[in-house]
Amino acid sequence: MTRIDSPSPAAAGVNPVSTSPTGRLVNTTLVKCHLVAAVFWFTIALFAGLFYSLQLLQHWPLPKIAVLSPGRIRMIHTNLIAFGWLTNAFLAMLYWTVPRLTGKRVAHNVLGWAIWVAWNAIILATYIGLHLGQAQAVEWGETPVWIDPVVVAGAILVWIQFYTPIVRSTEKAMYVSLWYFTAGFIWLGLTYIMGNFFPEYLVAGSAAGPLLGLYIHDLVGLWVTPMGWGMMYFFVPILLKKPIWSHALSLVGFWGLAFFYPLQGLHHFLGSPVPMFAQYSAVVSTIAIEIVVTTVVINFFMTWRGSEGALKNNIAIRWFWVGALNYAITCFQCAFQVTLTFQQVIHFTDWVVGHAHLVMFGVFSFWIFGMIEHLWPKLVGRDWWSVSLNRWQFWLITIGLGAMFLTLTASGIAEGFMAMQLSPRESILEMVRPFWIVRTITGLAIISGFGCLVVNMVMTACVAKTKHIDVDYEPYEPIENEVTVGTV
Ligand code: HEM
Repeated sequence: MTRIDSPSPAAAGVNPVSTSPTGRLVNTTLVKCHLVAAVFWFTIALFAGLFYSLQLLQHWPLPKIAVLSPGRIRMIHTNLIAFGWLTNAFLAMLYWTVPRLTGKRVAHNVLGWAIWVAWNAIILATYIGLHLGQAQAVEWGETPVWIDPVVVAGAILVWIQFYTPIVRSTEKAMYVSLWYFTAGFIWLGLTYIMGNFFPEYLVAGSAAGPLLGLYIHDLVGLWVTPMGWGMMYFFVPILLKKPIWSHALSLVGFWGLAFFYPLQGLHHFLGSPVPMFAQYSAVVSTIAIEIVVTTVVINFFMTWRGSEGALKNNIAIRWFWVGALNYAITCFQCAFQVTLTFQQVIHFTDWVVGHAHLVMFGVFSFWIFGMIEHLWPKLVGRDWWSVSLNRWQFWLITIGLGAMFLTLTASGIAEGFMAMQLSPRESILEMVRPFWIVRTITGLAIISGFGCLVVNMVMTACVAKTKHIDVDYEPYEPIENEVTVGTV
């Protein structure tokens, strides 16, 4: 039977190569190490966000120390989120999923370690460089200039590592996750080169502005999004033990993303001196991409339909569910915020910051939490040390993020209307202060929730006693060498 609406038996753990530790299909140590690195960088990023929120309340805790000045801490917050947290977590996800989807190992384990060391060294260098004030004037590309070529070299190594199993695969059809990953690897390199080399060296002045807008948005849309969607399409069928609702819809999503996403970056510059035809094109393609995102949301909820009970018992599926709901909210929000009328109110306000947190945290990071919840016991061979800590993590982070998003959205609207009435900046800042106090409190809730996860991961790896019995992947282990595409 050839079906391509769910990950194959290989995805579910068939080991067509060997079961010996040296010949394992999936290098679980690499998965683990990338997850540990992701959690490490995320911890620093969260504290950077919290500290910066204190700065906005005029309570900077580390005054008069240049290397710790607030502007640098803000860049550390956003860069560590994008490259330290999300990218490390996606690499962990790729080491788990790509060999299972293709039935082939990644190019080489040594290359895997080289990538791990190189990538985390790049992030460390970025982190130190930002503290030292070596930032470039490229949002989300502030990485010091000398690191840029190394990042491109790192992206090429990632291509080699993951294209090898994809090219060698003998599967008759490619599951949709692989479509997203294959394109995402190329898009990452191209996007990075566009944002970090063109505006500095080739295109100057206001023409560089749209390129920078394109870069910020494409980093989300052409790297984070394909990895996130591919991840969701892999794990959700396995967690729910049924195929995705519509393979066709998932492919509509793929082609829609490929066609419309690269055109919409300019919506960061609505109302700017950039020619109107270019601004209108960004508005139209943004509306188109909303339809594309809707296909993912519908596919998720239709797959979940009939498995409502899973929400109660399975915390991993809960993370994916809330993430998909947040995606639907973002999509609805986008429909308004991309119009020029609405932009007059919300441009340069907290609304945008709320939107950024909802997408990067509420959607993609929530899906990563779902993946960690599902994978960590399999990686360390023990059941979670404390299920109640997992629940605390879920509620503290979900409520924290929800409250942060609502607060910033409300303050953004208030700020926007006051600015339209030409209220003095001082009055606007006075008005937003209570909202920003709430933001700091929600940040503390988020950090506490994340602390629950860190403690639980450490205790599960070091102290937990109950051996983990893998009911998701292990039953398929004996299926000999045949790797077909089928149901979970
Ligand atoms: C402890 C929790 C967090 C706090 C207190 C926090 C706080 C902040 C603050 C104060 C800013 C600057 C806003 C401004 O310049 O007006 C910011 C920006 C940002 N944060 Fe966070 N943050 C937190 C967690 C996160 C997480 C988990 C993510 C993503 C996974 C994230 C993604 C971003 C992004 C993308 C921006 C840039 C927004 C923009 O420029 O529009 N933050 N955050």
